[in-house]
Amino acid sequence: MALDFKPIDGLYEGLIAVIPAMFANATPVLARGRRPIDGGLKFLDGRRLLGDGKTWEGLIAGLVAGAIVGFLLALVLGEPQIAYIGLLSSIGAMIGDLIASFIKRRLGMQRGAPAPVLDQLNFYVGAVALLYIAGFTITPVMFIILAIISGTAHIAANMVAYKLKLKNVPW
Ligand code: CTP
Ligand code: MG
Repeated sequence: MALDFKPIDGLYEGLIAVIPAMFANATPVLARGRRPIDGGLKFLDGRRLLGDGKTWEGLIAGLVAGAIVGFLLALVLGEPQIAYIGLLSSIGAMIGDLIASFIKRRLGMQRGAPAPVLDQLNFYVGAVALLYIAGFTITPVMFIILAIISGTAHIAANMVAYKLKLKNVPW
């Protein structure tokens, strides 16, 4: 079956497009990174640019995991384009996560402080935004359906990470 991702208007295409982002988003916590991306740098407000929760190890692990998942989906479904979509989806997810931390720090929130909605959907919005820029637009209905699925998957993945003691907080 030939898949059409322009626009992303079906659940099947939508899931394929966001699953790499989900893996990219769930992987950094496993990396146990120690090198902050901001290198300890502070912004004009005197607070950290991103904080210790965003590390190079986590970023790279997330990108690699998402890219691999996209590649495997492309292979299994016999659609090379999916590898490209998976890459965009993963890069977008990581950018969304970094932007969210930047915003949290500007609001004076400590690393790991809960920011409802922002914490759950940053990766999804980042992924969809980058895909959109690359020409893979999405219908409003699909955007909402995938947001609900992505947010739920994020919550579930974080509960598991908390239970496995990979995270100190369940969000
Ligand atoms: N992580 C990482 N590198 C990244 C993203 C995440 O090392 N680029 C790891 C960190 O150990 C982080 C954990 O994954 O603590 C959970 O990620 P997240 O919830 O996004 O970070 P927080 O610690 O909550 O930090 P923030 O308040 O900035 O969101
Ligand atoms: Mg967090």
